[in-house]
This record gives sequence, structure tokens and C-alpha cells, in this order.
Amino acid sequence: MNIKLRSGTPADAEICGKICYNAFKTISEAHGFPPDFPASEVAIGVLTSMLGNPNFYSVVAEIDGRIVGSNFLDERNRIAGVGPVTVDPAVQNRAIGRRLMDGVHERAASKNFDGVRLIQAGFHIRSLVLYAKLGYDVREHLACMQGQALNIAIEGHVVRPATDADLESCNRLCLGVHGHDRGGELQDAISRGTATVVEHDERITGYATVIGFFGHAVGETNKDLKALIGASKEFIGPGFLLPTRNGELFRWCLNKGLRVAQPMTLMSKGLYNEPAGAFMPSILY
Ligand SMILES: CC(C)(COP(=O)(O)OP(=O)(O)OC[C@H]1O[C@@H](n2cnc3c(N)ncnc32)[C@H](O)[C@@H]1OP(=O)(O)O)[C@@H](O)C(=O)NCCC(=O)NCCS
Repeated sequence: MNIKLRSGTPADAEICGKICYNAFKTISEAHGFPPDFPASEVAIGVLTSMLGNPNFYSVVAEIDGRIVGSNFLDERNRIAGVGPVTVDPAVQNRAIGRRLMDGVHERAASKNFDGVRLIQAGFHIRSLVLYAKLGYDVREHLACMQGQALNIAIEGHVVRPATDADLESCNRLCLGVHGHDRGGELQDAISRGTATVVEHDERITGYATVIGFFGHAVGETNKDLKALIGASKEFIGPGFLLPTRNGELFRWCLNKGLRVAQPMTLMSKGLYNEPAGAFMPSILY
């Protein structure tokens, strides 16, 4: 089988998006879970924006000129985010996924990223094995949480929309918790108008790019994350990703009526600092 890799272009969005939708739908339904993307148009939309964004590197796999899969590298921060990697279900388990991972790892090495991260569907043995063999370590078990907006305020923790003027404080906070900032993503989220900050004792003690699948959040304490979750009007996409090792926050969400949609795993290769605070990763890590 002659597999060829090339860079992706916006013209690949439709075929790659359909493959992405089918790949996730097939594996999710085989395990009794709802698909990550509710319709192929949603997957096409997400890949269209990634393929058209110069901060994302993309790689497409072809067999005899036919596209069979794609993968992405989010290059907005010092730690690069890998995925979504998807292969046409008709040709899975034939090393195409491995080649697509090699493609983004070569790119990450050439750009000297400090490390790479990804979120893995916890029930999917093949991706778990593939990533482990490629050198990724399991860092956190996650629950993808979904439910009705909580409309809860946490005393002394005021949530408001984030502005450009908050960027520096938020980046400092993220650096303190993770050892690196995620300023690229935060800047995008502020421009989109989805980012929020929480203030306590007259300073910023937490922020979220969005409380949802594609957003991350950082807080000095669980109270900061509770305030951000409690103020969110909805949980965009399949849900937000909560490290279940944070038992106190996990139980708080469960006791407020939120449900676990599916288990997921945060995996990393290269630099990883044990977080020194409360956090929630995004699906892009
Ligand atoms: C995950 C995915 C991209 C992997 O691509 P792929 O082409 O199917 O996988 P590969 O053949 O490259 O690698 C699979 C590896 O798992 C191994 N494997 C599969 N099942 C296994 C098992 N039960 N135990 C041990 N190893 C297993 C295979 O032997 C292979 O390892 P090898 O390369 O050393 O032989 C693809 O299956 C896919 O699109 N899945 C659905 C979407 C998805 O979940 N994407 C990832 C998001 S986290």
C-alpha cells in the first residue's frame, strides 16, 4: 500500500471533514457513545477553520491520489496540540494513523516545540496503543461533562468577559499552573468574545477561553473553576473536560446535576509539568 503524505489545504476540508465525522461516529457508536460531531457539516466546519488558519499545521494522507485521513498541529503555544487525527474506517489499522502522527511530530521537531499533547477517547484501544507506542504518557483521566447551565455564583468570585487588557495576568496565571502560557489560544478566544475571567481579592484568579470542548480553563483554586463553570450559559460541543483526579471539583459538578458524556485521556510527550493549580484542558489539549 503506497501511502503518501502532503500538507493540507482549505480545498481538502470537505473530504477530510467527512472522513473525520465517519471515523469518530464509527468508533463511538461501536462503543455505545454519541458521536463527537453531531453531523458531517460540523466536522467540515471545524476542519475548514483549521485548514485555513496559518497557526495550524495540517497533513493529509493519500493512497493512489485518494484522501484517506488527516492530522493537525496547533502551533499557537510553546506546547503544540495534536489532532484530530482521523483515518477512513475502510482503511484503519494499516499504519496510516502512525504515518499521520509521524507527519506532525516531524513538524513539531523542526519547530522546536517543548512538547506535544493530545486528548484521547478513553474507550478507544487503538488510539491509546498507537499514542503509547509513539512515546506519549498518560497524564490525566478526564470526564467530558455535559448538562444544563448551572447559573451558580460563587461568593467573592466575580466572573466577567475577558478583554485584551487581561491577557498578561491570565498568561502569568497559566504559567504558574502549567509552567507555560497558552496566550495564543486565549488571544483568539478574547477576539471571538468567548473568554471569561474570574476576579477574587481584586485580582484575576482564573480564566476560561470557553467552558466547552474546545476551551481550556485555569484557576488558582477550585472555587475559581466553579465560578467559571457556574457562570457559563452553556457547555459548547459534547461537553467540557474535567480531570477526574480533581475529586472535589468532579463531585461538585456531579452533585449539581451534570452528567459524564464519555471518558477521555490527556496524554503528552516532551515537556510536562505537574499542574500547580486547578485546570481543565481543551480537546486540542
Ligand atoms: C486512531 C486512528 C487515527 C489510528 O489510525 P490507524 O491507521 O487505524 O492506526 P495504526 O494502524 O496506524 O496504528 C494502530 C496500532 O494499534 C495497534 N493495536 C490495535 N489494536 C490493539 C490492541 N487491542 N492491543 C494492542 N495493540 C493494538 C496496532 O497493531 C497498531 O500498532 P503498530 O503500528 O505498532 O502495528 C484511527 O483508527 C481512527 O481514525 N480512529 C477513529 C477516530 C479517532 O479515534 N481518532 C483519534 C482521536 S483520539
